[in-house]
Amino acid sequence: MKKAFIFDLDGVIVDTAKFHYLAWRNLAKGINFDFTEEQNEQFKGVSRVRSLELLLDMANYTATQEEKDIWLVQKNEEYLSYIKKMDQSEILPDVPRVLKHLLSKKQGVALGSASKNARPILERVALLDKFQAIVDGNDVTIAKPNPEVFIKGAQALQTQNVDCIVFEDSIAGVQAANTAGMISIGIGNAEVLHEADHVFANFTQISNEFLDHLIER
Ligand code: BG6
Ligand code: MG
Repeated sequence: MKKAFIFDLDGVIVDTAKFHYLAWRNLAKGINFDFTEEQNEQFKGVSRVRSLELLLDMANYTATQEEKDIWLVQKNEEYLSYIKKMDQSEILPDVPRVLKHLLSKKQGVALGSASKNARPILERVALLDKFQAIVDGNDVTIAKPNPEVFIKGAQALQTQNVDCIVFEDSIAGVQAANTAGMISIGIGNAEVLHEADHVFANFTQISNEFLDHLIER
């Protein structure tokens, strides 16, 4: 039996969600807006451009296109300055064990991320070679919660949507997986991710037996 396991990147494989938050928070400070971690939940899985729109809405700030263009570059530059310092220690607990188990069982493994920085991040943490397909923010035209990113991942692995299992830390990503008819596994807070088929605090809670059960179902 072959399934396709599609992993989100930020907040699932690596702990980069905190870097995105820091960069947005600093930008928000510049327009006197106090951007909270709770508000940041809505930004997870959401594209860079859409995130800025959300932030400006929250701050009730009407920006010119020129301001928006400058801020998008500024946010990404700050984010990249954090990424540059990353190493394998930023890989979230037990992600390597789960990848190893799935690959040993000859399952499909793909990345499905909204980030345009996905490949350089995977390179930095030396995980690039674990993925048979990578679909990222450079490949999609419609962002999560639209399922395009995961549907493209399934196609790349020549797998039907019903045979795909998605790991996601964002509400938008869980909704995208559900809309595609895939099994959604939330990684994080069960209250926030209540729409997911299963929720685990992190990968240490996901046993090899549970993975085998997903493979065989
Ligand atoms: C998602 C993150 O994975 O990628 C979002 O959860 C982020 O927070 C989005 O905005 C786009 O990332 P990037 O690296 O292209 O700015
Ligand atoms: Mg994420």
